[in-house]
Amino acid sequence: MQTVNSIKDLRLVISEWRQNGLRIAFVPTMGNLHAGHLQLVKTAQQQADRVVVSIFVNPAQFGPNEDFASYPRTERQDQAKLTACGADLLFLPSVNEMYPAPLQTQVSVKGLSTLHCGASRPGHFDGVAVVVCKLLNMVQPDLLLLGEKDFQQLAVIRTMVADLSIPVAIQGVATMREADGLAMSSRNGYLTAAERQHAPLLYRALCATRDAVLSGTTDYRPVMDRQAQTLRDAGFMLDYFRICRSADLLPAKETDTELVILIAAKLGKTRLIDNIYFTRADPARTTP
Ligand code: PAF
Repeated sequence: MQTVNSIKDLRLVISEWRQNGLRIAFVPTMGNLHAGHLQLVKTAQQQADRVVVSIFVNPAQFGPNEDFASYPRTERQDQAKLTACGADLLFLPSVNEMYPAPLQTQVSVKGLSTLHCGASRPGHFDGVAVVVCKLLNMVQPDLLLLGEKDFQQLAVIRTMVADLSIPVAIQGVATMREADGLAMSSRNGYLTAAERQHAPLLYRALCATRDAVLSGTTDYRPVMDRQAQTLRDAGFMLDYFRICRSADLLPAKETDTELVILIAAKLGKTRLIDNIYFTRADPARTTP
């Protein structure tokens, strides 16, 4: 695997591939790679001739009191994992390479960016949108792969790509989970041993709520309240726990069938997010 640090070198490699008619897939990351990231690379390899991975801890998507400085940077190990996995090119730019001057331009997906995580992390999705927009302009891939664990991020980027007519197809890749159900995340490494034991409760709360919805009851509030209480008892501070329409992430109505349950909570100092999406039978067509 080749590693490049500059946009100029990145473009040299990419343009040679383009001249040879190769199909290019792109996996943007912030590093500290785990099996979930490697799954994105493996999925990319099935659909393209070359796979580019970027590692860039993007300051623009961290709030002033967030973990930008302490975010795990494990470039050597990441490079070894990507090499073993057979990625073709790693783009590893510095902050100065990505942001040589203060940005005068904003990329902001209105509405969607202010819901859920966007309400708790103001400006976060603007930072994500601008860096992904820049990376797409640098790599110009045919296919962009993103994890479904960041469901709202995926929705924001899909909207940005459609609105700005960016010529790239997007593929969401299913969340990889630990054996006990905890969604893989670079931030799981912040959990203490005791917190790590409780962390899978988040996914259990999602599954229990989904099962209640699928059982046909329209009164799933008591289930959510019970799950929320279990989480609080285990030490979670809930940020949000909502049943939404998967298309626009607005609160689901009784008639909606394409749903996603979104959850975010702090366990100690670690903010965890997860989601589960599913289709329920159209309640209007269901006979009692
Ligand atoms: O999901 C992430 O790791 C980041 O938000 C992304 C998409 C690489 C943009 O910095």
